[in-house]
Amino acid sequence: MKRSHVIISIVAALLLLTSNLAAANDNGLALTPPLGWRSWNLFGSDVNQPLIEKIMRGMTDRSRTDHSGRPTSLCDLGYCDVGLDDNWQACHSPEAADGMNYHREDGSPIVDLDLFPDLKGMVDFGHSLNLTAGWYGNNCICRDACRDPDECEKQIAADVEAIVRYGFDGWKLDGCGGETDLPLFDDYVRKLSPKPIMVENCHWGNPGVPYYKPDRTLPPSRGCPWNYYRSSGDIGPSYASVMNNLGTVETFRAQNLSYPGCWAYPDMMQVGVVKGGKMVLSDAETRSHFGSWCVVSSPLILSHDVTDDHVVDAVWDIISNREAIAMNQAYAGDSGGVYDKSDAVISLYDETGEEIRIPQYRYLSKPLGEDKGVAVLLMNSGEDAEKLNGIFRDIPHAGCPAKGDDLCSCLVRDIWAHRDLGRFVGSYGAVVESHDAAFLAVTDCEIGERKEDSGINVIESTK
Ligand SMILES: *[C@@H]1O[C@H](CO)[C@@H](O)[C@H](O)[C@H]1NC(C)=O
Ligand SMILES: *[C@@H]1O[C@H](CO)[C@@H](O)[C@H](O)[C@H]1NC(C)=O
Repeated sequence: MKRSHVIISIVAALLLLTSNLAAANDNGLALTPPLGWRSWNLFGSDVNQPLIEKIMRGMTDRSRTDHSGRPTSLCDLGYCDVGLDDNWQACHSPEAADGMNYHREDGSPIVDLDLFPDLKGMVDFGHSLNLTAGWYGNNCICRDACRDPDECEKQIAADVEAIVRYGFDGWKLDGCGGETDLPLFDDYVRKLSPKPIMVENCHWGNPGVPYYKPDRTLPPSRGCPWNYYRSSGDIGPSYASVMNNLGTVETFRAQNLSYPGCWAYPDMMQVGVVKGGKMVLSDAETRSHFGSWCVVSSPLILSHDVTDDHVVDAVWDIISNREAIAMNQAYAGDSGGVYDKSDAVISLYDETGEEIRIPQYRYLSKPLGEDKGVAVLLMNSGEDAEKLNGIFRDIPHAGCPAKGDDLCSCLVRDIWAHRDLGRFVGSYGAVVESHDAAFLAVTDCEIGERKEDSGINVIESTK
């Protein structure tokens, strides 16, 4: 190669490198939305090592099958990360530094050894099952408000040292104490950890807290030194709260701030969560919840008791739907969200009695990439069943009607039922029960071989 060519190649490579740097977090993790499980919704503050290890076993249990009849564990489906949430710390420890609750003078975190006698053993156990293990810091229960930048840095450094010592793979950094400096945290991970650490930024989408959202004008180690970030406050055990949290991703999606390596996240799921002996969500609500988290490219973090047969039976078909998961993982430059909604707004009440006002109907979509069509979710939050119409020309990237050919039909597939519904011209209408959602793949008529089998089952369907 001529010298000038070498120089041109190097310049081109550098340009490519810098444009990639500006595009995504560069720790190599969460290039698609991560899948896993986290402890808060099930155990709350009442958590310990045996409980987490039991969940780890449950994540790898193959006593159920996927849709094709193959014995399948949650980890086989991709849910391979198990995260420990708040309350592992020895609160008000006598070892704590003056004015601190659970950090020593040298900044190191103090683990409650009655509850977690061997954190490293717990992580090793997860690894032996091919799982990864996530931890949690800047805790909310029993918080530590470091008092100056030096003290905060000392705690961040010592927290990262502890992550490395125990072998954790991930870290949820909450917004309660003083350790809110995510870029500084990332610096210490790069300095001290032999492997990248998957980071959840839990600053609740709250502009009052530093680093609550990415800044794509900065290089990733400054602009998104985490892998997914909360767009909302905590999700609660009610359909209203789930629907409310869903809405919070819209503003980030609209600014293209949810993308590979840096996903907006409306919180772990309430799928299969039980309160007072009852499932919080109906089957219909579970479909709406899971389907919408899929279409907006949210991390899919379960939080139900994966070892309780009754609970697992109720949600298995929904959470083990490989087509739904594939739609969650697909990314073609747009993280997905609402493309249309009803003018009518309704009131729902969450578990605390708070009023949540949301559109009665929301229509969500996400392009799945060349050849793969568009994911569409027709959601009915109203009290009555309703026929909802997916009008093709309104669905971004669907392409179907814009061919100047009336017979150009779109293939519509029912994702919940794993079957093609046929070819439709103009729109597809589905009767959607109260709080339910139709989950569809809509594929353009010009794509692939489907163009060949023209004339089959062309159904006229208009608003
Ligand atoms: C873990 O993964 C390895 C490599 O894919 C496989 O050989 C092994 O059987 C897996 N172990 C378990 C417990 O699933
Ligand atoms: C949004 O970001 C993605 C990933 O960086 C990029 O591919 C896409 O072109 C962006 N879309 C817009 C509308 O800027």
